[in-house]
Amino acid sequence: MDQNSIKITAALSTDMPVIEQLAKGFDLDCEDMVWDQFMVAKRADKIIGFGRMRKYTECTEVATVGVISQEQKKGVGTLIVKELIRRGPAEIYVTCVIPDFFNKLGFQMVKQYPAVLRKKVDFCKSYDFSEEQVFVMKATK
Ligand SMILES: CC(C)(COP(=O)(O)OP(=O)(O)OC[C@H]1O[C@@H](n2cnc3c(N)ncnc32)[C@H](O)[C@@H]1OP(=O)(O)O)[C@@H](O)C(=O)NCCC(=O)NCCS
Repeated sequence: MDQNSIKITAALSTDMPVIEQLAKGFDLDCEDMVWDQFMVAKRADKIIGFGRMRKYTECTEVATVGVISQEQKKGVGTLIVKELIRRGPAEIYVTCVIPDFFNKLGFQMVKQYPAVLRKKVDFCKSYDFSEEQVFVMKATK
């Protein structure tokens, strides 16, 4: 991929309609989305990917990561999550159904996690994933 033509930046409030539309299309977590939680990947000023850091009282999680289908598997998701981790706290969680992707980014599966993330596990299960298919993972800097 020509990663030089891709810019990873903090989202602008004006990016939100596109982020919301794409996130809904991927059935991602769209709860309490605020523009200043997000990083976006842009190619020629067009949003091709996004992800956010969602803060709770007890913990912080990487959430709502998506890359448009024609730009997937080119390293864009990796760039976005790496930048979220770089800007984030020492301990970051993710609740996901694609552990291999997050494992490559330094996340390890955990069996014990803050209670607030149980809601996220249940959210994934509402999309027909079984308990065994949903993973809570943690990265520590
Ligand atoms: C998941 C997603 C964000 C990954 O973004 P991407 O830009 O395609 O990923 P990358 O190109 O950075 O992939 C990095 C590595 O993860 C792997 N990977 C990518 N998507 C994967 C998936 N769905 N499952 C398992 N591994 C995956 C790649 O094969 C690659 O491995 P490699 O380095 O050994 O080649 C993107 O496919 C997407 O938007 N999917 C739909 C929405 C979604 O599922 N979001 C995650 C919600 S938790």
